[in-house]
Amino acid sequence: MFDKSTYIHRRKALQSKIKDGVLLFLGNNEASMNYPANTYRYRQDSQFVYFFGIQLARLAAIIDIDAQKEIIFGDDYTIDDIIWMGNQPTIKALAEKCGVSETRPLATLVDYLQKIKAAGRTIHFLPPYRDDNKIFLHNTLGIPFNQLKSSASVEFIKGVVALQEIKEEKEIVEIEKACNVGVNMHLAAMRHCKVGMLERELAGLVEGIALSGGNGVSFPVILSQNGETLHNHNHEQILEKGRMLLVDAGAELKSCYSSDYTRTYPVSGKFSQQQREIYEIVLQANMEAIAMAKPGIRYFDVHLHASTVIAKGLTNLGLMKGDPVAAAKEGAHALFMPHGLGHMLGIDVHDMEGLGENYVGYDEETQRSKIFGHGSLRCGKKLKKGFVLTVEPGIYFIPQLIDIWEKEKKFIQYINYEKVRKYVGFGGIRIEDDILITDNACRVLGNPLPKQVEEIEKIMAE
Ligand code: GLY
Ligand code: MN
Ligand code: MN
Repeated sequence: MFDKSTYIHRRKALQSKIKDGVLLFLGNNEASMNYPANTYRYRQDSQFVYFFGIQLARLAAIIDIDAQKEIIFGDDYTIDDIIWMGNQPTIKALAEKCGVSETRPLATLVDYLQKIKAAGRTIHFLPPYRDDNKIFLHNTLGIPFNQLKSSASVEFIKGVVALQEIKEEKEIVEIEKACNVGVNMHLAAMRHCKVGMLERELAGLVEGIALSGGNGVSFPVILSQNGETLHNHNHEQILEKGRMLLVDAGAELKSCYSSDYTRTYPVSGKFSQQQREIYEIVLQANMEAIAMAKPGIRYFDVHLHASTVIAKGLTNLGLMKGDPVAAAKEGAHALFMPHGLGHMLGIDVHDMEGLGENYVGYDEETQRSKIFGHGSLRCGKKLKKGFVLTVEPGIYFIPQLIDIWEKEKKFIQYINYEKVRKYVGFGGIRIEDDILITDNACRVLGNPLPKQVEEIEKIMAE
């Protein structure tokens, strides 16, 4: 936890953005895996972490804007809890650590909220994503399940985003620590990658390093020779000479701050001519995007530039044709890169995504594109100093997508399908770094993680 003044300051800043009513924060509870008492690793809700810092199940909190009151609802551990799970500070002591003086038993929360509701006052809540919290809101406030998301408070969401998107110095320190764990995860994978191993042997190594660095991975490890499947969580293949391996993985610290990197390299440790040609295009897109990112520029424009670099490179190789600038603008490059350039990063690996991507990555000035590929960009709005984002261009050969587009004769003026067919089976390449927007540019976070062909070949030969 940070110092209590951090949480007091954040809650004050949030209060100043909300007109009236009561802000409700529902903490996360334990979640069962295969029978009730066998639970997943506990993860507190990210907004609860941000505003209260307490990482414990069965908590809720309110901020009464009108009465200027803050209360944490929770129960001290019973002797049964202590026998099985060890002792815990009292709720009072935990609340004190984040600067909240009033605590009440959790069972009183329903009555408290129903009285607020009966008085006709607004209860603001964030979009619920855990089923138990949805059931609680439904039972307590009488909102139908299918209206819970749309009943979430836009004022509350926007207030949270405005604060959480600008990272404080101490948060950047934490993110950078998570980056360094992430760098070590990737260096280990590069060094241990050998023909004949199972993908999961490498995935286990990567995950182990994340666990020794804190909470573990910031999202399930993506590690596959079928890198063309963007979120491939299958690790059952044997590593083969001649194939590329895509590793997308990051770490989450005990403070919950995260990192997110992708590296792609040949299993053999040596790029073939064809692999190198495609790789260099993605690398150029990654580096030019990093060179462009600065306050005041729309991330959509950085994304469009990276898409154009990809279209140009593929046109030079004969996989695309015509004007690459127009091709990228119209979305023809999305056959090869159907995702966006990146997303915000912080306490969540896709920071605040649960609040609604359009509230986090877009605003009145920048609306989400409706074009396939461009529309997948999670953050398109103007960048500000203090934003932390990923930069993750890629080129993928997705057989099913190629089939569909070719049958539809989609963008035949820009795509040389005959040549593209020859790349089916190539897999996919993505190169992902984490950046902090500074005064007039950006800074790549974390220790250097090799991405030049020669650097990667050298490390893999060690
Ligand atoms: N974790 C998937 C991504 O890079 O966004
Ligand atoms: Mn990633
Ligand atoms: Mn990412």
